[in-house]
Amino acid sequence: DGKIGVGIIGTGIWANTHARACNANPHAEIVGLAEVREGAAELFAQAHDIDVPIFTDYRDLLTVDGLDAIIIATPNNVHAPVSIAAAEAGKHILCQKPMATTLADGKAMTAAVRKAGVNGMVAYTKRFFRTTRFLHDFLRSEDLGRIYHVRAIYFQSWLSNPATPIVWRLQREKTGTGVLGDLGSHITDLVQYLVEDDIMRVSAMMKTFVTQRPSAPDAQEKETVDVDDAVMFGAEFRSGAMGVFQASRNATSRPDHWRIEIDAENGAVIYDKYADTRIQLNVSKGLARHAGWVDLHIPARWRFSNQYGGDEHQNQVDHFIESIRSGQTPSPSFDDGLKTERVMDAVVRSSDTGKTVDVEV
Ligand SMILES: NC(=O)c1ccc[n+]([C@@H]2O[C@H](COP(=O)([O-])OP(=O)(O)OC[C@H]3O[C@@H](n4cnc5c(N)ncnc54)[C@H](O)[C@@H]3O)[C@@H](O)[C@H]2O)c1
Repeated sequence: DGKIGVGIIGTGIWANTHARACNANPHAEIVGLAEVREGAAELFAQAHDIDVPIFTDYRDLLTVDGLDAIIIATPNNVHAPVSIAAAEAGKHILCQKPMATTLADGKAMTAAVRKAGVNGMVAYTKRFFRTTRFLHDFLRSEDLGRIYHVRAIYFQSWLSNPATPIVWRLQREKTGTGVLGDLGSHITDLVQYLVEDDIMRVSAMMKTFVTQRPSAPDAQEKETVDVDDAVMFGAEFRSGAMGVFQASRNATSRPDHWRIEIDAENGAVIYDKYADTRIQLNVSKGLARHAGWVDLHIPARWRFSNQYGGDEHQNQVDHFIESIRSGQTPSPSFDDGLKTERVMDAVVRSSDTGKTVDVEV
């Protein structure tokens, strides 16, 4: 029927956003699901009104008739084996972030999609917010001059309670790093995308505040948390700009909040998740130096720029499907995802050694 046949691997919380977006996209059709949790995929299929084959082994899904592409919405340690198998089977891939649990896996995934000539996209969803798109274009069209400073934070609060039980996001084997991969990866990708520049050097500290957590809600038994609750790093970009990044899941001030501030020669901008219908601008050019902050409201055409009437999740899946139909490289690609993996690898090395380290190029 000319539609792109999509298989979804992992039918947990975030997969719902993908299923809704695939169902709303007239060029996409979900043709199969893979899930290891008994009964979960059946409920998921019911919830999204799809009647498709369901497998426990993703390799069986890869053989389904009409399958062109897969979306990986599993814990992070499953991203690499699935991506590599899917690329070898000639399927396009939208893989959840962070791309992998190790830099080596990120490299192997990138090599696999390149060899197979399929599209590999990493779901750095923040790129698909209207505010991000508007600011990205604004920074290209306005001459803010040389960028001096970038500050980026991403804070959540859900781990501030020590009674919150262990989940895969707190187990190194399944998640890789902790908040660095979970939230730090988002702001690393977002900033590198917005300023179109790469981080070359970092100096980092990582911290685990709560090292033991209940094995299940209300359980007496405890399990060890072996990943970071909080991370901060200083960064130097290729252009010489200086960056400060901070991410935490123990920030009681806010449940889910990111904010990016950029100071450049001719002005400064602030992008704040809590005020996402505008960006703040302070032009410091010439006599306007003391003009102060003004709000730039995002025009309606940006607000409703997505084709099929959804949100950032819709934008993301629409872009993936369109990249396959048009034969274009998606953005963020696996190469972009690998860039962020390289920065995260340097952050860990810096935190482990207490030294400023170069990002591998
Ligand atoms: N882009 C974003 O903004 C964003 C937001 C949240 C989560 N995520 C990412 O999405 C991914 C999934 O997160 P989630 O919150 O939905 O997790 P989740 O735990 O709710 O769901 C993961 C699902 O994968 C299944 N699974 C595990 N191993 C599998 C395998 N081998 N084959 C098939 N299914 C398997 C699990 O049983 C579970 O149902 C993670 O990589 C996470 O970092 C991205």
